[in-house]
Parts: sequence; C-alpha cells; structure tokens
Amino acid sequence: MPNRTPLTRFLIEAERAGQITPELRLLIEVVARACKSIANEVRKGALGGVLGDAGTGNVQGEAQKKLDVLSNEILLEANAWGGHLAGIASEELDEPHAIPDAYPKGNFLLLFDPLDGSSNIDVNVSVGTIFSVLRCPDGASPPTTRDFLQPGRTQVAAGYTVYGPSTVLVLTVGFGTHCFTLDRDTGSFILTRRDIRIPADTAEYAINSSNARHWDAPARRYIGELEAGSTGPRGRDFNMRWVASMVADVHRIISRGGIFLYPADAKCRDKGGRLRLMYEANPMALLIEQAGGAASTGSQRLLEVQPTGLHQRVPVVLGSKNEVAEYERCVAEATARRASG
Ligand code: F6P
Ligand code: MN
Repeated sequence: MPNRTPLTRFLIEAERAGQITPELRLLIEVVARACKSIANEVRKGALGGVLGDAGTGNVQGEAQKKLDVLSNEILLEANAWGGHLAGIASEELDEPHAIPDAYPKGNFLLLFDPLDGSSNIDVNVSVGTIFSVLRCPDGASPPTTRDFLQPGRTQVAAGYTVYGPSTVLVLTVGFGTHCFTLDRDTGSFILTRRDIRIPADTAEYAINSSNARHWDAPARRYIGELEAGSTGPRGRDFNMRWVASMVADVHRIISRGGIFLYPADAKCRDKGGRLRLMYEANPMALLIEQAGGAASTGSQRLLEVQPTGLHQRVPVVLGSKNEVAEYERCVAEATARRASG
C-alpha cells in the first residue's frame, strides 16, 4: 500500500505544527463526515427518491430542492453535539441556528451553503458543499447575526466539496490549499494535491453570458476582449466554460487555472450581486488566495468586504491573478472615465 495521507493524519500533523487547535481539527473532521453522508445521498440519485423540489422556499426566495433540505439537516445534526461550535449559519436558514441547550458550546462559528449548484441536481451535474469557519467573538452566547458579520480575512478555515465523478474536499486552514479525494472503499478522504498553485495566467474564463445585455461597461469590455481572441487587443484566444455550480467552476480553476466572474449586473445589482458573501464568496476567496490566485469584487479584495447581512450578496471575480487584475483594470478605467465626466 503506497504511503497515503488521510485527512485525519493531515489534520493531526497540522495541529502538531501549531496551525490548528484540537477543537478546529474536530470541527473539520465533523464537517468532512457530514459531507460524506451528503455524498452518499447525492449518489443515490433518482433511486433514493432525493431528486426534485421540496415544495418550500429559502430566505433568498429560491425554491428548495429535496437535497438542499436534506444536506442542511445532515450538516446541522452532525455539528450540533460535538461541543466545538458556538453557532451555525446556513444559506437555507433565515437566522443563525442556536446549538441546542443540551450540548456544550465551543468557540467557532460555522457557515455553509449545504448544496451549492442545486439547480443541477436533477440533471446529474456536479454539486457541492461550501463552508467557512470564523471565531466567535468573546462573550457572544448565544451568538447573534452581528457576531457572524466578520470580513472574510478573519476566517480560520474554509473549504468545499464537489460531488462529481469523484468526491473531493478542498480545504485551507490558512497554510495553503489542499485537495483530498474520497476513497469509497475505506470512507477516508485521502490527500491527493498538497499546496495547490493556481497559474497566474490563463486562457479559460467562466461567466453566464446569457446576462450579457445586463452587464455594465467593464464586464462588457473585458469579456468582449476575451471573445475577440487573437483578432482583438489581447492577441490570443480564450475558451469558455460554465457549469453553473460555483463549486464545480471554482474547482476547475483551482485544478488548472482560469477566471470566474459573477459581476453585479442590471438584473441583480439591487441585491448587491448574485453570489452570497458569507458562505459562497468568502470561503472561495480564501481558498483561491491561499493557492496564489486573487479574489475581488472588481474594485476591492473580497476578503476585505465588511459584511452587513448574513445573506448579503456580492459581485465575484476570482482565479488566475493576472486575469483578475485585467478585470480590475477595466473597472478602474471605467470609474476614472466616469469621474472625469
Ligand atoms: O448558488 C448560486 C449558484 O447556483 C452558483 O452555484 C452558480 O455559480 C450560480 O448560482 C449559477 O448562476 P446562473 O443561474 O446565473 O447560471
Ligand atoms: Mn450556492
């Protein structure tokens, strides 16, 4: 048997190296275990009776899929009794979820999107779970929404899983970004890429082009220049990929580079953007930065955004850092042009 590093060993070594506390190790183990349960449910597909709408809506006004509800329940149940959490927030819950009185409380706050990309479930396309871990402010017991509203740079851990052809877990505790693949025979996540580095340059972009008519000037210019390829100002060809599950699109970028954009456009500007800051954009931004990439709103580093609401939305541009910088240049030039009248 080749020398394999299961997640448990990886975390114990991180603890010995002083990178994480035993409580954070336990928290990550519990989240990973819940994700394995979700992977099992996702894998059953139509045979498990888990496809289709739940017939309910979430706080965002989105129709919930049965698997959204089930994944949320799995994560809530798994994390309730371990004693490592002070509170939980989920895309599927209006307000923070209090840890039941019967259980001890810990020092961390866990936020998650239980099943990202769930519109893809019924057509058997990859979906995933995204999570973020924050420290609970001292004396916040039980924590309120305000206690969760910390900028992304304060995250102590972040990760996602993709339930795809294989199930992968991509994790950072602030010391690089690492990928684990689920070994279905043993039930362990095995380290398959340590210290991932995203190439600074790329020829691949991801955006929902059906929104093109709603984009503002910088997005139109930037994407227009990529589309023009070797005949345009960029002088080379670009390829486009859009899975429509953020986890899958980000995983492609973590795996081989690329740029992902969901700018605020005329359709979603009132809400602040499309993607949620606290449990979609922030964890992805930390993972991307820890892998040498960049993550921005277009005009600000994502991890610096001061949250004002648990379910706040935000424009997102992330991936290969030279392309993120190109997009930011388009935004800055448009802003400067507007300012000079
Ligand atoms: O969670 C929101 C989400 O489903 C992301 O996973 C994905 O990137 C995006 O929305 C898809 O948006 P659209 O429906 O515009 O393709
Ligand atoms: Mn999502």
